[in-house]
Amino acid sequence: MGLAHRRLLLLLLHLLLLVAAAAEAAAAGAGRKEKGIGGGGGLRFRGGSGTFKVVQVADMHYADGRRTGCLDVLPSEAAGCSDLNTTAFLYRLFRDEDPDLVVFTGDNIYGFDATDAAKSMDAAIAPAINMNLPWAAVIGNHDQEGTLSREGVMRHLVGMKNTLSRFNPEGIEIDGYGNYNLEVGGVEGTLLANKSVLNLYFLDSGDYSTVPSIGGYGWIKASQQFWFQQTSSNLQTKYMKEEPKQKAAAPGLVYFHIPLPEFSSFTSSNFTGVKQEGISSPSINSGFFASMVEAGDVKAAFIGHDHVNDFCGKLNGIQLCYAGGFGYHAYGKAGWSRRARVVSVQLEKTDGGEWRGVKSIKTWKRLDDPHLTTIDSEVLWNRGSNGRRKKNPDGKMR
Ligand SMILES: *[C@@H]1O[C@H](CO)[C@@H](O)[C@H](O)[C@H]1NC(C)=O
Ligand SMILES: *[C@@H]1O[C@H](CO)[C@@H](O)[C@H](O)[C@H]1NC(C)=O
Ligand SMILES: *[C@@H]1O[C@H](CO)[C@@H](O)[C@H](O)[C@H]1NC(C)=O
Repeated sequence: MGLAHRRLLLLLLHLLLLVAAAAEAAAAGAGRKEKGIGGGGGLRFRGGSGTFKVVQVADMHYADGRRTGCLDVLPSEAAGCSDLNTTAFLYRLFRDEDPDLVVFTGDNIYGFDATDAAKSMDAAIAPAINMNLPWAAVIGNHDQEGTLSREGVMRHLVGMKNTLSRFNPEGIEIDGYGNYNLEVGGVEGTLLANKSVLNLYFLDSGDYSTVPSIGGYGWIKASQQFWFQQTSSNLQTKYMKEEPKQKAAAPGLVYFHIPLPEFSSFTSSNFTGVKQEGISSPSINSGFFASMVEAGDVKAAFIGHDHVNDFCGKLNGIQLCYAGGFGYHAYGKAGWSRRARVVSVQLEKTDGGEWRGVKSIKTWKRLDDPHLTTIDSEVLWNRGSNGRRKKNPDGKMR
């Protein structure tokens, strides 16, 4: 055997080993995932009420705590206003809503003004940790502007206490940092206890365009959409084909930071909430909305980024929702309260009184005023009202 042949053989052997190692890693990942509901997070619906409640916190823009002043508050409110007001709002809100999960949808810290990004993130998230709430986070376009890179910020987040955030799916190459999903199990002791009856998807919507000829914000890349499609498809197969088999897919909710271009599809005649600034989406459409529509299980997508927009509007069966800005060191509108979005998912009860799959998805917002006022309560999705294919566009059954 010549030297060239031996080299080729060695190379092939090397490749074979790499493939085997990758397969093993993927199998280990799958094994971990299958052990429990909730992707290891152990999330499940409550037995008493048959509900699962998510509080979304968008754009805290946390910096250095007491030393960091507030933006866009009334002149009378400026003195003594700091990041600590953001912290106080978190505590009041969590006490009142008692959520099953808190989701921080990016620009959690304002990197430029944070002396130490890790410490700033620790302080920003602290109320969720101190109140022992499970929480998940994605990153926005400002989290990495301080002492940590985007990768560094996400690595820090996944190492924090009580977090269900994950860095990225195992065993595949993917754009961005912090693309993952969480499963929410049915009520303990019921038929659907070991199935994910609600699926949560989290994506990194990037920061800025990296294509020199295109300016503006980043977008959800093809690799991330491919991962989302595969994940959604696998979850749907599992839900509908494995015992106890279900007739329709479990609903999905998606969380990320930057609005998709489709957020511009509405006027005040067809959304609930307000639009007080432009939609700051990327200047090109990377197709993630189409991916969600095609997947079929997604009922709503929740974002932040534009602090003084807080509406939900429905397009092609998917509710597109802003949360409205939360943090006091973020631009806002003086006299217009900082706010958060709550989503409450309700299970259906059988005639025998046992909890089953999801029946409805509701939302409302809470304002940081003396009464934590609730506004804009609405039903986002109802079982049976949506997603059932009936007729062809011309109205004829074929
Ligand atoms: C900020 O917190 C301080 C101290 O609790 C409070 O007096 C002040 O009213 C708060 N400001 C705003 C704008 O909520
Ligand atoms: C769910 O899994 C647990 C633990 O493996 C098992 O004891 C229980 O019987 C399962 N419940 C259903 C409804 O399959
Ligand atoms: C909302 O209403 C506007 C104005 O009537 C219309 O142009 C637009 O298509 C509507 N959007 C959706 C998603 O229904």
